[in-house]
Formats: sequence, structure tokens, C-alpha cells
Amino acid sequence: MEKQQRVFVAGHTGMVGSAVVRQLQSSGYQNLLLRDRQQIDLTRQRAVEELFASEQIDFVIIAAAKVGGIEANRTYQADFLYQNLVIATNIIHAAFEAKVEKLLFLGSACIYPRICQQPIKETALLSGPLEATNEGYAIAKIAGLKLTEMFNRQYGARFISAMPTNLYGENDNFHPTGSHVIPGMMRRFHEAKTTGLKEVTVWGDGSPRREFLHVDDLAAGLFTLMMKYDSPDTINVGCGEDCTIAELATMMKEVTGFTGEIIFDATKPGGTPHRRLSVEKIFELGWRPRVALREGLTQVYQWACQTKVFDKAAAAR
Ligand SMILES: NC(=O)c1ccc[n+]([C@@H]2O[C@H](COP(=O)([O-])OP(=O)(O)OC[C@H]3O[C@@H](n4cnc5c(N)ncnc54)[C@H](OP(=O)(O)O)[C@@H]3O)[C@@H](O)[C@H]2O)c1
Repeated sequence: MEKQQRVFVAGHTGMVGSAVVRQLQSSGYQNLLLRDRQQIDLTRQRAVEELFASEQIDFVIIAAAKVGGIEANRTYQADFLYQNLVIATNIIHAAFEAKVEKLLFLGSACIYPRICQQPIKETALLSGPLEATNEGYAIAKIAGLKLTEMFNRQYGARFISAMPTNLYGENDNFHPTGSHVIPGMMRRFHEAKTTGLKEVTVWGDGSPRREFLHVDDLAAGLFTLMMKYDSPDTINVGCGEDCTIAELATMMKEVTGFTGEIIFDATKPGGTPHRRLSVEKIFELGWRPRVALREGLTQVYQWACQTKVFDKAAAAR
């Protein structure tokens, strides 16, 4: 990937896409093709085909997707399946037709079976039933990764896929109903602190174990894959360490300065009991995460306060 070549970052306004743009720009890539949803709806096949026909695109990173937390995934299964399937097929096929040099598709750790051996190796794919609460999203992501794999195997296209673990960072979604565990928890602890609440309730019993990777570390990992990885087989991107939701909540309490009590509501779903990715394959390429969880949470909390994302989330209610 030469610095003057044209790189299309699909979904550049999102958390991952914006981190990828920061990574590319700081590495000297200025010829980026960036189109927001107003300029192109990636679920429209003709619009995507026209984009690839009219622009000379050399590389593609697909960070566009419909993304959400447990509640959004469970409630809007059809939307998560349909939109993610269509975004993936539209871009991957158009990129193939346009003969782009290399494409990276992003999936997620939720493509792996609900119960599987930890840490989860890439070979666990399709070895058991999925977590029911995000089946629609997972099936779309599995279809996308299989599409890159099969274009790679059948045609020798340099199409690859990466499966990141749970991510957090700047430009995360702090919306009251659609957010993931870290931004959702951060918002609720912040609101509890600023409104003087005595307790914060966390869904589940606190026992599920989760791995969290800072999005800037992910972006550096994806850059490594664009430079060094061409295999049709998908590859995990994680940090290799996990913690319980209870431990995360305690850390969040300290980072936000909330002084009340944490209550665990075991009547609410906590999601997959255990999920940590095996990172052997990507570590072999020389990449390592740099941001420790507490340091990352502190940085994101400062960013969120400065950019007033909590006020925007409250206004969205
Ligand atoms: N967040 C995580 O913890 C996590 C973990 C593992 C993997 N991933 C993967 O990383 C990728 C990016 O996730 P993210 O967290 O960065 O999500 P995000 O912040 O919600 O960003 C998604 C991006 O996709 C764009 N988009 C969605 N639908 C579109 C459409 N129809 N047309 C044009 N643009 C569209 C969004 O545009 P708008 O801003 O207009 O909505 C936004 O720029 C996804 O593939 C996800 O599966 C995320």
C-alpha cells in the first residue's frame, strides 16, 4: 500500500472508521476516499457500483455497518441482518469488479459460537450455535467474511477479513438505547455522579468475562494486516486479556468518580458467558496492543466530557 494510492474507508464517521483514518493520515496516507451516509447509502447497490466505477480505488477498508449493543441487536434482528449483509455484499462485489488491489472486511467476535473453548481460535467459526441475542448481526458478518474468503480462494483476490474483539474509544456510540457495554456504562456512571444518584444498576450478574481493545490499537492492527496479511482465513484482533463485567464496573466507578453503589440485575441478560479471542496469529505478525484498559477508559472519559457526548445522549432520549 503506497502512500499516494487511493484508500476508500467505508464508514469513516464511525468509531472504527475514524480511528482508521487517523492511523492512515498519521502514517502519511492523504489520498483517502471518504463518503458519509448523506453522500452514499451503502445499502444501495447501484450507488456503490457507481462509486467504484467513477473513482480509481486501490484499497478498501470496510468499517461501515449497523452496530449496536445487546438490546438493539436483540430487538432489531432483521435490520441488523439485512443492512449488514447488503453493505458487505455491495462493497465486496463492487470492489472485485473494479479490481481493487486489496480489501479488508471487518467482522466481530460475536461470529463465534456462544459456547466455545477460550481463548477463541479462528478455527472455532461455525462449530456451534450462535448467541441468540445477536444472531442476525453475526450471520451477516459470517456471510461477509465468507465472501472475502471465497473471492480470495476462487479468484486470488487479496480480500481479507479481521474479527475484532469488543472495542471502545473516541467516537463511540453513547446513545441510551444503542450503546455497547463500555460507553453505556460510562454514561450511566457519569449521569449518576452528576445527578447525585446513590446507585448504578448493571445488567446481568457481573460474572461474564469480556475482552476490550482500544480502537486506536485496533486501527494499528488493521494497518499491520493491510501490510502483511493476505490469507483467505479470517484473523482475530484482540488484546489477549479479559476481565469480568463486575471488574469493569468497579474500574468505571473509579474513572468517572462515582461514589455510590453498584447493583447487578441478574434478571437482565448478560450475554455470552465468556469471550476472549486467541491472538496468536496476529501477534505472529509483530503487532501488539499498547493501551491498557484503565488508561484507555480514562482517556475516553476525558474525551467524552470535553466533547459533551453525555449531554447529546441525554438530549436524544
Ligand atoms: N464497536 C465495537 O465494539 C466493534 C467490535 C467488533 C467489531 N466491530 C466492527 O467494526 C465495524 C465498525 O464499527 P463501529 O463501532 O465503528 O460502528 P459505528 O461507530 O456505528 O460506525 C459505523 C459506520 O458505518 C456507517 N454506516 C452504517 N450504515 C451505513 C449505510 N447504509 N450507508 C453508509 N454508511 C453507513 C455509519 O454512518 P453514520 O454515522 O451515518 O451512521 C458509520 O460511519 C463494524 O463492522 C463492526 O462490526 C465493532
